[in-house]
Amino acid sequence: MITLNSPLDMHLHLRDNNMLKIVAPLSSKDFAGAVVMPNLVPPITSIYEVKAYRDRIKDAIKDDNFEPFMTLFFKSDYDYDFLKEAKKYIKSIKLYPAGITTNSEDGVSSINVEELRNTLEAMSELELPLCIHGESNGFVMDREKEFVPVYQALAKAFPNLKIIMEHITTKDSVEALKKYENLYATITLHHLLITLDDVAGGLLQPHLFCKPIAKRPEDKKALLDIALSGNKKVMFGSDSAPHPKSAKEAPGCAAGVFTAPIILPKLVELFDSYDKLENLQAFISDNAREIYNLTPLKKDITLKKEEWKVPSEYDGVVPMFAGQKLSWKIQ
Ligand code: DOR
Ligand code: ZN
Repeated sequence: MITLNSPLDMHLHLRDNNMLKIVAPLSSKDFAGAVVMPNLVPPITSIYEVKAYRDRIKDAIKDDNFEPFMTLFFKSDYDYDFLKEAKKYIKSIKLYPAGITTNSEDGVSSINVEELRNTLEAMSELELPLCIHGESNGFVMDREKEFVPVYQALAKAFPNLKIIMEHITTKDSVEALKKYENLYATITLHHLLITLDDVAGGLLQPHLFCKPIAKRPEDKKALLDIALSGNKKVMFGSDSAPHPKSAKEAPGCAAGVFTAPIILPKLVELFDSYDKLENLQAFISDNAREIYNLTPLKKDITLKKEEWKVPSEYDGVVPMFAGQKLSWKIQ
């Protein structure tokens, strides 16, 4: 048996409308809170939209004890007064390079210090963390590596801004993270479990296709080493990104792995397999509390060693490990 106190998912896609109703309860049941990504269509860029989206999430999760930590989609023309007001309703701002992933067309087309200075100085002053999808538009396996200099330039230029490298997938990112005090990172479950071989080494596995794409064994090892150690600079962020089965099992497969329903059982199994269960609390909640300076709702989740079978789908959305047996179950 293991009990986790107030598990937090610091990077989650809840979508909207019918998809929101399907997926939100699967996270709100197991977690005390989650950082909700703003890449809706159109993206969330106003306080009005933040509040309305939060209300729709609250409706979808009914009475669950769960706090959606809202975010804004980064725009380089947000000014200090707007951000000061927005800060009452959001926990961070998410920056996407334009066109890099699902619904990111309205992202930033050139990421350089001078163009972002006004907004980032205001965020820094207001202590609003910046979350970044850090990929260049180069060759797919090199995109994250090519983005590392951007992280470094931003970290140096805005030393008081907390910068969160979202869903890191490479050894280079782990090294960069350690070099700058104001860099932090989220790590997904799937990037701790798979490499590109699992996605495309045999028959193509569309449900494992995501951005950033899973990398090499040595990258996975670097992610595992830092996550399993409980290092205070990394926190769990699932990047659970549901798409309808028809959009995944199609030519032009949408990017995203839907992990929400299996996260905690699989994380316990993983940490247990390395005999590091004692560091899971830090990874799944405590580090995030410190990095984001937040006190989560109180919620204990207990897992027991007991076999169960993952459903093959949740209303037309296929989860990771669909149809497979897991060895830990939430009580
Ligand atoms: O695979 C991904 N899916 N990566 C992202 O960055 C976005 C996400 C989505 O929204 O589907
Ligand atoms: Zn994401």
